[in-house]
Amino acid sequence: MTAQDSMWQGRRVLVTGGASFIGSNLVDALVGRGAEVTVVDDLTSGKRENIATHLDAGRVEFVNADLREQDVAHEVIRGSETVFHLAADHGGRGYVELHQAACAGNLMLDGIVFDACRRTGVEKVIFASSGCVYPNHLQTRPSEVVYLTEDIVGPPYDCDNTYGWAKLMGEMTLKAMAADYGLRSASCRYFTVYGPRGCENHAVIAMIARAFIEQDPFVVWGTGEQIRNWTYVSDIVEGTILAAEHIDDGTAINLGTMERVRVIDAVREVCDYTGFSPKLAFEPDMPTGPLNRVADNSLAAQLLSWKPQVPFREGLHRTIDWYFANKDRAEVRKDFETHLTER
Ligand SMILES: NC(=O)c1ccc[n+]([C@@H]2O[C@H](COP(=O)([O-])OP(=O)(O)OC[C@H]3O[C@@H](n4cnc5c(N)ncnc54)[C@H](O)[C@@H]3O)[C@@H](O)[C@H]2O)c1
Repeated sequence: MTAQDSMWQGRRVLVTGGASFIGSNLVDALVGRGAEVTVVDDLTSGKRENIATHLDAGRVEFVNADLREQDVAHEVIRGSETVFHLAADHGGRGYVELHQAACAGNLMLDGIVFDACRRTGVEKVIFASSGCVYPNHLQTRPSEVVYLTEDIVGPPYDCDNTYGWAKLMGEMTLKAMAADYGLRSASCRYFTVYGPRGCENHAVIAMIARAFIEQDPFVVWGTGEQIRNWTYVSDIVEGTILAAEHIDDGTAINLGTMERVRVIDAVREVCDYTGFSPKLAFEPDMPTGPLNRVADNSLAAQLLSWKPQVPFREGLHRTIDWYFANKDRAEVRKDFETHLTER
């Protein structure tokens, strides 16, 4: 065990949204480091089964509650030393574009959680922010090699839907609370995360699901030219824990690879690896989000010594293996179209 790992031994940690895809992977890592973990989640998109092994082993306490209720938030947060705040009204591209009011509800959720953290004397808050805080107008040309650096989030702000605006307001609130009240914090800007326990409303899992149910023609949203830096969940989890260890002043940091991957190339890799040869049907009118979104991760390298460990092709293969081993075709087929735009 390293000195940093031992700092988690017996530490009282709360993970909001801890039954989610990323949240539950974070819980695995914190339990592995010996933390005393409590999860609070209203299970609106999180699943109890994601943390079931820890619950059955008595290693994690679970509170099923809606953190938008101020008294509840206060009660659950009291006594925590570190709070990882991942609870959010959030889904994939189809969800954030088609559910603006619901995502704006995160303004209230984050405000209540941060206020409760301050009032109850939490030592450190880590916020799951997003690449959606970056200006849309810088992400429109796939032919341009652009890496988004943290400092370009500034006037004129141009976030990605109400979801991105709420994440930016969350970051700004924490930065102000660090300066004015001494509440220690860090914001992690996650970039399009994928891996085991991911959901079909996110692009990579949707592609894998289409191959799994042998959808032919295989539908691709947009032209397929969109560029992303899909980042494997274990890298996101390690970066989040490192941010908790090394950042105090509310600095926002990118957690994302610098691999530029076109949607169409990801689709081809899914088809190759699964041995599926469908016709492709492009749907240019479906939501695609920004056409060119890739992080610069040098600040995370400098402040956290963080470097993503899992190249996209390898992470994709691992995720396909997980999906094919754990899903049932009839079940996936049943609500597939709804899953693409819901949470
Ligand atoms: N998946 C990505 O690519 C990605 C990218 C950037 C940021 N994020 C952020 O990471 C976090 C985790 O996202 P995810 O993709 O693992 O899945 P997710 O969206 O399912 O996670 C949100 C979790 O919060 C819970 N929740 C929602 N509202 C709540 C409330 N009012 N009270 C209590 N719990 C509530 C949900 O049940 C769910 O478990 C979110 O904050 C999300 O915005 C995710």
